[in-house]
Amino acid sequence: MNAGKTRLNQTPEWTALGKHREQLGHTHLRELFAADAERGDRYTLQVGDLYLDYSKHLVTDETLALLRELAAATDVAGLRDAMFRGEKINTTEDRAVLHTALRAPRDAVIEVDGENVVPSVHAVLDKMAAFCEKIRSGEWTGHTGKRIKNIVNVGIGGSDLGPAMAYEVLRSYTRRDLTVRFVSNVDGADLHEAVRDLDPAETLFIVASKTFTTIETITNATSARDWLLSNLRVGPDAVAKHFVALSTNAEKVSDFGIDTANMFEFWDWVGGRYSYDSAIGLSLMIAIGPDRFREMLDGFHLVDEHFRTAPAEANAPLLMGLLGVWYGAFFDAQSHAVLPYSHYLSKFTAYLQQLDMESNGKSVDRDGNLVDWQTGPVVWGTPGTNGQHAYYQLIHQGTKVIPADFIGFAKPVPDLLAGLVPQHDLLMANFFAQTQALAFGKTPEEVRAEGVAEELVAHKTFKGNHPTTTILAEELTPSVLGQLIALYEHKVFVQGAVWNIDSFDQWGVELGKVLAKKIEPVLTEGKGGEQLDSSTTTLAGKYRTLRGR
Ligand code: F6P
Repeated sequence: MNAGKTRLNQTPEWTALGKHREQLGHTHLRELFAADAERGDRYTLQVGDLYLDYSKHLVTDETLALLRELAAATDVAGLRDAMFRGEKINTTEDRAVLHTALRAPRDAVIEVDGENVVPSVHAVLDKMAAFCEKIRSGEWTGHTGKRIKNIVNVGIGGSDLGPAMAYEVLRSYTRRDLTVRFVSNVDGADLHEAVRDLDPAETLFIVASKTFTTIETITNATSARDWLLSNLRVGPDAVAKHFVALSTNAEKVSDFGIDTANMFEFWDWVGGRYSYDSAIGLSLMIAIGPDRFREMLDGFHLVDEHFRTAPAEANAPLLMGLLGVWYGAFFDAQSHAVLPYSHYLSKFTAYLQQLDMESNGKSVDRDGNLVDWQTGPVVWGTPGTNGQHAYYQLIHQGTKVIPADFIGFAKPVPDLLAGLVPQHDLLMANFFAQTQALAFGKTPEEVRAEGVAEELVAHKTFKGNHPTTTILAEELTPSVLGQLIALYEHKVFVQGAVWNIDSFDQWGVELGKVLAKKIEPVLTEGKGGEQLDSSTTTLAGKYRTLRGR
């Protein structure tokens, strides 16, 4: 049965979950752990280098079985297999969804419209690798003959967040003598701060845009070109040595003035937010080198294979996706926190925000009907220890249900200054302490036993029962990063499949773009304001006055 035909929340599997939720009532994690001494061992999975502990979730064997039945009823596996086969499962854009082909081995065969795409994927990877070696060795020089020392990626959304995040994550693997920066915001301050201390003669701009029409990117790239040419006091022929493009749109790249020989291609079956392991990762590849980049791709592929082949009981992305469905539907959880205990993962959650929220922030199903169940959560979070001194108060004692993922590593990065290595145990002690506190809390009796004055007992009580997943790996390597990202990609996939939404379009970003185009002349020339609503007209007028127009 396909839940696209029977409304999801009218399926027997959904109803069974609802009943089960009622029976579970206020069952506490303390009780679930007390009832099963093996729970902390049993509710775990090992996927590649990732150890996943889901024991601190508000689930029993029955919950998990019912969730798997929901996955079967909504044919998650069928859609997954269609995705891997290259079928056009992004129906509103009539596109295949094949980010998994970006990390497929050379001898794999994956067809789109009858053509095997794997050779093209590897041809681009090889071209990227050759270019990286030229930059890293100094063979590729700027227009004046100086060695390239600065790389500036200009892109936004999926053409920025992935490489910017991964560059931070893998900093200890990067060539420290290269400066790598990322410009995304159309606020000129972003480009200004990125280039103000750079020598243009030593700077390479990578213009990253799938469509090569995104106004923010084209505006910033044009300004970057002006900055370069005017500071070097050279003509447009200098562009060839200082600008390369990452895109699916050769025509627009050429219109911009970039030689298409210096374009690294990808394809319409790669969604923007699923693209950083394509040519969009060129800045990262320059920073970490082609070998490390390929290790990362292997990490992605490992989890792709796990997702494709592991049985439902042991399938980590399936499990993570279903847990999110469970909390959204039956606990009214509105958000999901991702809390890495690694400084290098500082941009990880921001990356996941686009991955998850642009994919599953939808309110109509695949057939265009309004859904009446919760879809994608608000994804948020920052590195955990800093969060502990900011918003963890609300997670511990607030009124909201916030499932959270805790991500940590047994070893610090290899090149950490020796004197800082002991700090890692303190970091990880916090990591383990937080999930323990969130799960089990502190009862009023325990508080009283500490001699706390009665009027403070309620304030110092921790209800606990807050669900968390712990993801632990030995070390944060390129492969582990690939594994983590693929895990979340497929988790998002699972949820979209259950909710019967198209996780691969993003029509919700269009309206604002169109309106901005209409509003710009109102701001600059004072024209067209009468077409706007009274609030926006008044605000535009106020803006013009403040701008002295
Ligand atoms: O914000 C919408 C969006 O289309 C994203 O999906 C995409 O990642 C981003 O804009 C950038 O698009 P492009 O790579 O085409 O410049």
